[in-house]
Amino acid sequence: MSTPHINAQKGDFAKTVLMPGDPLRSKFIAETFLTDPKLVNNVRGVQGYTGTWKDVPVSVMASGMGIPAIGIYSYELYTQYDVDNIIRIGSAGSIQPDLHTMDIVMASGACTDSNYAHQFSLNGTFAPVADYTLLSTAVGCARANGANPRVGNVLSADNFYSPDSDGPDQWKKMGVLAIEMECAGLYMNAARLGKRALGILTISDHLYITSENLSPEARQKSFTQMMEIALDTAVEMSKIG
Ligand code: HPA
Repeated sequence: MSTPHINAQKGDFAKTVLMPGDPLRSKFIAETFLTDPKLVNNVRGVQGYTGTWKDVPVSVMASGMGIPAIGIYSYELYTQYDVDNIIRIGSAGSIQPDLHTMDIVMASGACTDSNYAHQFSLNGTFAPVADYTLLSTAVGCARANGANPRVGNVLSADNFYSPDSDGPDQWKKMGVLAIEMECAGLYMNAARLGKRALGILTISDHLYITSENLSPEARQKSFTQMMEIALDTAVEMSKIG
């Protein structure tokens, strides 16, 4: 079998798939963290691997950038490959003064300026939220890892560049923590399909404090911590079934 965007067989993916945006990052994660990783997809260079972490099967596959891209891959994984949990592992730009580069954010909610929800014909505004079991499990794994994640709303924006807007001031006033481009679409697909989803994000830049530059070593350290949290979450979720 295969889908328009995934050339894998049924059973090739684990119940939990970690999704970075970047295909090369998917390969790096598989080769660095997973035992015995096998390439299960490479359509359009969107690399997907399945291996084990602490003896539990875990997959990692890239989502590409933006809600339309993660919408495609998450839909096909949930509906065609029996995937139960998708954990987006990505980066985000902080818009709060007390949220700094390298901090870890768990997106309990994902606001959006995208029209993705239009397809569901709802008579109002849908609030895309993370699955609570995944979220609380991930918070527990983060604390066990010595991390203290911020949990809250993010903005899944449709544009990275917005030359004609005043920037994210209004979202900042609503307490939104950071901006990224995928969580809301992932959460909506999970909701519609009765599956679980969560976004775990490291702050890679600050939209107001532009002097906050991360060294490559610091970036790698916070990324590694996020990865271990996500992988441990997959292990804990495998006990829930
Ligand atoms: N906007 C959108 N996505 C991002 C950003 C941003 O500023 N930083 C990291 N991912």
